[in-house]
Amino acid sequence: MSGINKIAVIGAGLMGHGIAQIFASQGYCVTLMDLDAPLLLSALGRIRANLTLMSHHGMGKPDQVEAALSRITTAVELKAAVAGAGFVVEAAPENLELKQNIFQELDALCPRETLLATNTSVISITEIAVKARHPERILGTHFWNPPYLIPLVEVIRGRATDAAAVDQTCELLEKAGKHPVRVNRDVPGFVGNRLQHALWREAISIVEHGIADAATVDACVKFGFGLRLPVLGPMENMDMVGTDLTLAIHDYILKHLEDSPEPSPLLKEKVRQGDLGFKSGRGFQQWPAEDAEKSRKRLQEYLLKAIGS
Ligand SMILES: NC(=O)c1ccc[n+]([C@@H]2O[C@H](COP(=O)([O-])OP(=O)(O)OC[C@H]3O[C@@H](n4cnc5c(N)ncnc54)[C@H](O)[C@@H]3O)[C@@H](O)[C@H]2O)c1
Repeated sequence: MSGINKIAVIGAGLMGHGIAQIFASQGYCVTLMDLDAPLLLSALGRIRANLTLMSHHGMGKPDQVEAALSRITTAVELKAAVAGAGFVVEAAPENLELKQNIFQELDALCPRETLLATNTSVISITEIAVKARHPERILGTHFWNPPYLIPLVEVIRGRATDAAAVDQTCELLEKAGKHPVRVNRDVPGFVGNRLQHALWREAISIVEHGIADAATVDACVKFGFGLRLPVLGPMENMDMVGTDLTLAIHDYILKHLEDSPEPSPLLKEKVRQGDLGFKSGRGFQQWPAEDAEKSRKRLQEYLLKAIGS
């Protein structure tokens, strides 16, 4: 929205610092708020490192790094953070009660025209807004990690959200260089995570039933249909092969696919045994620290190239 020039970001963790970075590098004044004061300092350091790395890949100039940082102020109190903000994004931990309380407070502190957005991954926007008196300006903006590299933001309309709030948010996100998409119904997981976790459920099931090991499952994606995904989403792909062929395949295969409404026993067992993935050195596969680091670097390099080109 053209009138918005100040943004407040609530929570300066993994997502919050990256969201603040997006708006600051596009010329907006940003207040980044967290209850944890030392974390705010390290968030600014992370933003500096992210912007410097991006400038090395042709995204922005080195002198723009300090300019972006100079537009960010920090706060440890909500009231100070949201003063004068036209758009507030909450990126606090994924806990319904915490988010409900934050939105109750935001709703009381901010004028009615201020747009209030939550970066929740899966929680209902309608439920998050339940304690607010003006839920018509509360909506979801689901950024993906790392938010400054992944263009998509799902903009979710809660049951009480005004259509105009969705329009204004999409306009603001476009101006900030993101790729907003509208999610018309407030359903758990929105669109992206529903698709992603349908695939992950099947992937785990394949490993659990001994059909293929974890590395093979990943190879089938990385060297197979995954290569198409950046240019061809599933809906366009179905039209390309034909809806008739899709129907014939679904007629035969759907009854064989995983449809459990519960997390897989194999996944539960991994967690029970402390096989938590990169952070414990073992998940579905072994992850010595150097391999985990290589994998993180590979992803970052790939995203920098894909987005920078
Ligand atoms: N991590 C991801 O990949 C990812 C992706 C998309 C969406 N999300 C969602 O974004 C939100 C934040 O996730 P994250 O990974 O950045 O979490 P995080 O734990 O890294 O950061 C959360 C921050 O919020 C702060 N905080 C806690 N209570 C607060 C309060 N009352 N007011 C202000 N700050 C408070 C914490 O100190 C912490 O720094 C969650 O809703 C999460 O589901 C996460």
